[in-house]
Amino acid sequence: MSQAEAFDPTVYLNGEWGPLSEARIPVLDRGFIFGDGVYEVVPLYAQPDGTRLPFRLAQHLARLARSLGKIRIDNPFDDAGWRALIHRVIAENAGAGDALVYIQVTRGVAKRRGHAFPAGITPTVFVMLGHLVFPSAADRARGAVAVTAEDKRWLHCDIKSTSLLGNVLMSQHAVENDALETIQLRDGLLTEGSSSNVWIVKGGTLLGAPRGPRILEGIRYGLIEELSREAGIPFEERDITEAELRSADEIMISSATKEVMPITTLDGVQVGEGRPGAVYAALFEAYQRAKTREFEQASKRVI
Ligand code: PDD
Repeated sequence: MSQAEAFDPTVYLNGEWGPLSEARIPVLDRGFIFGDGVYEVVPLYAQPDGTRLPFRLAQHLARLARSLGKIRIDNPFDDAGWRALIHRVIAENAGAGDALVYIQVTRGVAKRRGHAFPAGITPTVFVMLGHLVFPSAADRARGAVAVTAEDKRWLHCDIKSTSLLGNVLMSQHAVENDALETIQLRDGLLTEGSSSNVWIVKGGTLLGAPRGPRILEGIRYGLIEELSREAGIPFEERDITEAELRSADEIMISSATKEVMPITTLDGVQVGEGRPGAVYAALFEAYQRAKTREFEQASKRVI
């Protein structure tokens, strides 16, 4: 058994703490039966003193509140409650290396199966720590392979829902094509990856598909907008055609687990010069500075 397989974190489930291997939910949980729930993935960065700190937690909690609101589940905690829970999950699972916190809230356990919301049920809340290994410097220097596919998902992609079948199929499509990610197109326009946002560079301008129901607004969406401003890179949020994607000077993806990652091959064709570009390099540097700034502020708050 590998170290990752042997890892049995202490998790939170509906007020109880225990090993992941023993956590159980009833089969009539709406998350199991209907995918009726939402989730968050918050990256945690190992600090020199051996602790781990979440990055952009306020933004993740705000998005969780928005997702819950959109599917009409009452938020089980306020921000202070979520922060306390997350910090306890981190403390319960002290260890080396970067990690992530996975949060899932479902509508709860129904008495019988029926599509509409059951009355008077309490949301199921699950929080666990997971291992996270960011792409290595060698992976970044090489850049990654992506393939494209038609986006066949529903039109509420802005909700970070656990109903992820469309995304699961797209992720598997990437694996079967020896790619890191599948980049999706709807009606000839770029949407997003199976689990990432997608960015292209055209003549020095960074372009991102419009926020709205066709994509999940990543926590890194606003961050990359900020970082591009800081790095003096012109930024535009607008429709991006398939032709623009295929002729981009640079393509990159962003997510909690990849930070920002260059794509150097798309559908077997070299992107731009076939190596990570200058805009990627500037954004990656700015991303690292943003983490340092946030963690310095966090350590000052604790003191
Ligand atoms: N996914 N779009 C989709 C469909 C995603 O699933 C994700 C993240 C993103 C980027 O969001 P963020 O910058 O907040 O990570 C965009 C997470 C990592 C996941 O499902 O594991």
